[in-house]
Amino acid sequence: MKKTALSLVFLALAGSAAARGDVDVLARTCNGCHGLKGVSVGLSMPSIGGLPRDYLRNIMKQWKYDERTAITMSRIVKGLSDDEIDALAAHFAKQPWVPAKQPATPELLAKGRSAISENCEDCHGFTGSDPDVGVPKINGQWAKYMELELAKYRSKEFKMPHRKMKKAAQDMKPADVSAAARYFGAQSK
Ligand code: HEC
Ligand code: HEC
Repeated sequence: MKKTALSLVFLALAGSAAARGDVDVLARTCNGCHGLKGVSVGLSMPSIGGLPRDYLRNIMKQWKYDERTAITMSRIVKGLSDDEIDALAAHFAKQPWVPAKQPATPELLAKGRSAISENCEDCHGFTGSDPDVGVPKINGQWAKYMELELAKYRSKEFKMPHRKMKKAAQDMKPADVSAAARYFGAQSK
């Protein structure tokens, strides 16, 4: 009896060690595109290290089950089990968020600041770094990537399930999209 209990404990421990090992191996398959520890070198490739766990888990499952459109990621997540997705989300959420250095002129910053003050600040904070639960950090996210994402939220062709984010993006003036993306991209904190 005692022996069985012990070996069960041993098996459970070995199992979790294997699971940890697996997630490190899996995470390495992401590095080629998203950079070491999820810090991407740009430009249309997002950083993912330090994004909230719920957000990471959600977005990957939405891609997997065709609730959300992505060109590259849908294909990648279809090869992952739900458990692997959970483990990857936890893994990347634990990494530090490293804002990319994307300086902008005072003029552009002022334009961006006014573009985001009405429709974006409530959820993302005024630098994009102090968001509500489940809202991704966007301070120092790559501006080019954010512009592409905003275009998807604004388009009717793309399935983007977050209704409020979609509405906020669609309410923007076309000329404000790039300014907002570059404003958030330039924030270091
Ligand atoms: C071949 C390059 C490539 C690989 C490999 C890759 N990704 Fe991606 N990833 C992308 C691209 C491109 C996007 C932007 C969305 C799109 O077009 O699919 C993206 C977007 C994301 C996002 C959304 C980030 C955000 O800010 O919303 C997450 C999360 C993500 N990838 C996680 C992963 C994980 C986890 C892995 C490893 C299992 C991985 N990716 C492997 C190219 C890649
Ligand atoms: C109601 C809250 C809310 C408002 C208002 C809002 N956002 Fe968002 N934003 C979110 C959430 C939540 C997500 C992730 C949504 C998802 O999973 O599709 C997001 C995602 C994003 C992304 C993609 C980030 C990534 O890593 O892929 C960008 C860029 C963005 N928002 C910019 C903006 C801008 C610019 C505005 C103003 C026009 C805005 N948001 C207004 C909540 C909001």
